[in-house]
Amino acid sequence: MVNARLDALHEFAFARLARLLADVPPGGDGADLSIGDPKGAPPAWLIDRIAERADAFRGYPPPQGTPELRQAIAAWLEQRYAVRLDAEREVLPVAGTKEALHLVASVMIDPVPVPGRPPPTVLMPNPLYQVYLGAAVMAGAEPVPLPATADTGFLPDLDAIPAEALGRCQLCYLCSPSNPQGTAADAAYWARALELARRHGFVLVADECYSEIYHAEPPKGALQVAAGTGGLDRLVVFNSLSKRSNAAGLRVGFMAGDPALIAATLKVRRYGGATIPVPLQHAAVALLEDEAHVEAIRADYTAKIDDGLARLNGRYGAFRPAGGFFLWLDVGDGEAVARELWARAGIKVVPGRYLSAEAADGRTPGDAYIRLALVHDRATTATALDAVVHHLDRLS
Ligand SMILES: Cc1ncc(COP(=O)(O)O)c(C=O)c1O
Repeated sequence: MVNARLDALHEFAFARLARLLADVPPGGDGADLSIGDPKGAPPAWLIDRIAERADAFRGYPPPQGTPELRQAIAAWLEQRYAVRLDAEREVLPVAGTKEALHLVASVMIDPVPVPGRPPPTVLMPNPLYQVYLGAAVMAGAEPVPLPATADTGFLPDLDAIPAEALGRCQLCYLCSPSNPQGTAADAAYWARALELARRHGFVLVADECYSEIYHAEPPKGALQVAAGTGGLDRLVVFNSLSKRSNAAGLRVGFMAGDPALIAATLKVRRYGGATIPVPLQHAAVALLEDEAHVEAIRADYTAKIDDGLARLNGRYGAFRPAGGFFLWLDVGDGEAVARELWARAGIKVVPGRYLSAEAADGRTPGDAYIRLALVHDRATTATALDAVVHHLDRLS
């Protein structure tokens, strides 16, 4: 017996991809461009920092994170966004944001606000990071995917949300820079989202995990916009060292924002949240205090994006993402092309369909797309991009 809500969910994107390719032998030893899993190294000194506190592996880590890490997060937010947060009440370290993005739905949502009435809604972009969908469904809410397509500038049109869905909304996920398209919200966009959250009484979750992987201007953060428009009320921002520091395996991220929402999340995390080993929290402080390695990582991703765009030369709707390390290509039929790239060259890409929510007719706004994650070193990525472009040109 399992929770019947699970029936509303597909397998996670990468399990679906494995199934799609299972009966096709790879046609070469091409690269895996499917998962957004950084292959670059974090700074070499990270290991020394972990070793400094190896004694602490013997005890349980504090669910609230160490005061040292909370202070470092607050200091980083201040230097990045010019906002001053209370490290005790407005910041919460989490063991990677994936789990916490999932958890907050069940913390923030009351699945039966009015007995006999329809469930609350959770607004989310579409295509999207699949975790938002799973979180909403498992919390007993109705997911309402908002088209984030070429027509809407790859972010949901906040003025086109159906009034009925807005009226029942308890939570809204927005992602900037977005996964998969790499679009960044500007200050006006965040201000509008905050205004809606306050007017309709829902929680705004701003997923900013790609905020440091930008390719021109640093993206605006929801916190800095909130500071000028009524404070942290109803806002929680998520960020992570996974992409910023090539440290996805460290499992250190954080939430920051409305102290009531932080307190509620901590309360639930004390019951069942994953904690971060103290030596890793100690190392995370050093990462947050250092921007030199982040600049190098950012420059490397920008060079790979440049390499990709030069090869694609505007074909397949290729565009420069404001942030992140993905290329989002319109190839006509993403699933078919993903199989072909695997069969012809052993290159793995994710069909956009697997990064999207389905409409009632089974279609998704990602159907025509594939996502390329430029996570390998520059030479490997360039070779893979050459092969992708070569085969795309032959397939079209
Ligand atoms: C949009 C987005 N948010 C959150 C995450 C989770 O990252 P982590 O759990 O490593 O902090 C990812 C990871 O790929 C992501 O793409």
